[in-house]
Amino acid sequence: MINQVKLETKSEDLVIIERSLKLAGEVQISGAKNAVLVIMLAVLLADGKSVLSNVPDSADVNYVIKLLTDLGAIVVFDRDLKIVSIDTTNVNKHSVDQQIMQKMRASILVLGPLLVRQGRAEIAMPGGCVIGGRPLDYTLDNFRRIGAEINLSNQLLVASISQDLQAKRLVLDYPSVGATENLLMAATLIPGTTEIINAALEPEVLDLVQMLTKMGAKIEICAPAAIKITGVKKLNPIEYTVMSDRLEAGCLLLAAAVTGGEIFIPNADPNTLDIFLFKLSEMGHEIKTERDKLGVWLKATSNPKAVSIKTAPYPGFPTDLQAPMTAALSIAFGTSVIEETVYENRLIHVRELRKMGAQIQNTDTRAVITGVDNLYGTEVVASDIRASFALILAGLVAHGRTVMSGVSHFRRGYDGMEYKLQSLGAKISVCSFQDLVPKNSSNLDLNI
Ligand code: EPU
Repeated sequence: MINQVKLETKSEDLVIIERSLKLAGEVQISGAKNAVLVIMLAVLLADGKSVLSNVPDSADVNYVIKLLTDLGAIVVFDRDLKIVSIDTTNVNKHSVDQQIMQKMRASILVLGPLLVRQGRAEIAMPGGCVIGGRPLDYTLDNFRRIGAEINLSNQLLVASISQDLQAKRLVLDYPSVGATENLLMAATLIPGTTEIINAALEPEVLDLVQMLTKMGAKIEICAPAAIKITGVKKLNPIEYTVMSDRLEAGCLLLAAAVTGGEIFIPNADPNTLDIFLFKLSEMGHEIKTERDKLGVWLKATSNPKAVSIKTAPYPGFPTDLQAPMTAALSIAFGTSVIEETVYENRLIHVRELRKMGAQIQNTDTRAVITGVDNLYGTEVVASDIRASFALILAGLVAHGRTVMSGVSHFRRGYDGMEYKLQSLGAKISVCSFQDLVPKNSSNLDLNI
């Protein structure tokens, strides 16, 4: 089938997806994006050379490398082996280049390490996916509470210490991942015992806890959701292997599920995917995992059923899998309801799915999906990392060709994802606009 595609940009890369049913095979997932970024910044808490393995070669990782290099660290990334070494011995700056800060939200995670290392941090307010207001009040209010002076003007944030930071019992209004991680990193070097009550306990936070503990930090996780940190004088550089990406595992499982295929992901940790796997089973997909063992196997049902989901902090349904799940449910039998409770504006992908024939009614935080038999390829725009994967899923089952722009978002979150999908049989490629334009053509309406 030929689609009439009207491209709006001449400069960007595009992802081209053709209908590809029954994806099948075994695929390894990369290191976790949401663990590796904070772990790379946490090495600033010690002087010397740390070596991290299982580091995905994604755009966000490369931004963090730029950030660390800008601060004076010596960073070497072996992209084939996925190993990064970071020598922090010469880090003596306290300000970060504004452009680097604005590349991603995770750059705010440099605040805690810089503040305890250098006594001052001058950073621009971070950028990142536009999926809600994403304020930083929990982080900044609590840094003030432990004695930091924080000034914010014209998007420049200056944090400084005039007296020693104090260990306190801190209560988060909401279990924010970023606030928990930032306060946790700083607290490892604050004398006394800091408690973070209502802390985020996402698997990526626990990976950071494990990494910091290996550096010499004293950290205890307490029921129901608190982290107790007893400050030490000094942390040491380490060698550490980053956890595998549960969100990438979820995305690939959905790729097999929507296309009626079968997949095995040997290094996915099922214990980090409980509710997600439960929902896939509820849809009718067959899932196999073994207790206390890595590996998730899925065989898709040919008649997926509608299910309803409500996103929540871990161990609830992960907001980062909501967009891909929305795409999957758009072709399930029956009516599904999606409630997004973590972000106030993370359903932008719905508009694009509708362009492909999905029947979805939504407000900013709630979507009602009536499953349809068919989706149709067209030109779509990815608005954030997870929306990009949702559109790829829809493209895999859509009749005709799907052309997705907004590829920079796709590149931020995944390492070589198009190759992983190709290895399962997907017809997907990333190409530049120039590759699509017939020579001597100035017309933007392409028959591709
Ligand atoms: N929030 C506040 N005030 C704060 C902090 C957060 O109101 O001071 C709100 C946010 O606006 C948001 C909610 O709390 O509505 C959750 O934010 P959180 O701080 O938990 O998220 P984050 O640390 O900014 C990380 C991940 C996100 C993931 C969330 C939730 C990284 C680098 N990012 O963000 O990942 O959605 O936790 O699990 O770890 C993604 O991978 O696509 C992604 C966006």
